[in-house]
Amino acid sequence: MSETVNTPSSLTGGTWTLGDLTVTRVGYGAMQLAGPGVMGPPADHDGALAVLREAVGLGITHIDTADAYGPHITNRLIREALHPYPASLHLVTKVGATRDEQGGWPPARKPDDLRRAVDHNLENLGLETLDVVNLRLGDAQGPQPGSVAEAFETLVELQRQGLIRHLGVSNATAEQVAEARAIAPIVCVQNMYNLAHRQDDELIDELAEQGIAYVPFFPLGGFTPLQSSALTAVASRLDATPMSVALAWLLRRSPNILLIPGTSSVAHLRENVAGAGLPLSDEDLAELDKIGR
Ligand SMILES: NC(=O)c1ccc[n+]([C@@H]2O[C@H](COP(=O)([O-])OP(=O)(O)OC[C@H]3O[C@@H](n4cnc5c(N)ncnc54)[C@H](OP(=O)(O)O)[C@@H]3O)[C@@H](O)[C@H]2O)c1
Repeated sequence: MSETVNTPSSLTGGTWTLGDLTVTRVGYGAMQLAGPGVMGPPADHDGALAVLREAVGLGITHIDTADAYGPHITNRLIREALHPYPASLHLVTKVGATRDEQGGWPPARKPDDLRRAVDHNLENLGLETLDVVNLRLGDAQGPQPGSVAEAFETLVELQRQGLIRHLGVSNATAEQVAEARAIAPIVCVQNMYNLAHRQDDELIDELAEQGIAYVPFFPLGGFTPLQSSALTAVASRLDATPMSVALAWLLRRSPNILLIPGTSSVAHLRENVAGAGLPLSDEDLAELDKIGR
């Protein structure tokens, strides 16, 4: 655990409110804590617990997870490391995909699948109510068109039963975001977005006007680290890492962007929290802005 315990507001970027839940804009994504391919247990169980405890020790109050990670493994690690949870900590999970024996992520969005997934999240996280549940849409290739009504209405019913506090959508098209919002309020959209993948620029700005968070997954490029000569040039000019520049750029991109970089390493976690605070000049921003355009 870090020696200096930050208060949430002392983290770069300050806080954002998901419905009635205040979270630090610098959060942590727990997917990397499971074994290779996000299947099975981690090689270093105690190391995974240490990362989670360090995240909270650094002042992070937003951890992103899913019961499909492992499956079940990541949620059980979170429970082992952090339960009983500090009142300030909010766990955001997602349902809508399961795992197959090859490590694939087949969709599981029928009402029974979703009820089971919510039950598994509650049980494995040791909670009676889930703070935020994202309905994960599309597939491993990205968002796919199609109605979200049946699946989203199932989650709204579970919300009415008191099992879920707030809803969001993930891996969604702009049309699906609009369709979900016409059914019930959402507090966040979690889609793939980073310096090099800017397909959601318009959606981010619209959501910012509506007070809805945009939570980019793969902020560092995910399984394929971000690579760009412009990014490398800005990073070396600032004597910083490309990861720090990528995170600091996201925080600057829009006030509704929340960071959930993933790592299985305490050292990388610390680097990412510090790196998000890297000051970027207008010149840096202009150069970076060209990367994904
Ligand atoms: N909604 C969805 O469909 C969806 C899909 C994917 C992910 N997610 C969520 O988004 C979160 C973030 O995505 P992600 O973890 O896949 O991708 P990411 O944050 O873009 O990148 C994680 C990768 O970067 C490495 N890394 C992190 N910090 C580093 C540093 N300071 N120096 C060098 N390498 C570093 C990690 O390796 P090390 O472990 O070695 O640090 C890992 O390989 C996940 O944890 C998950 O919660 C959601």
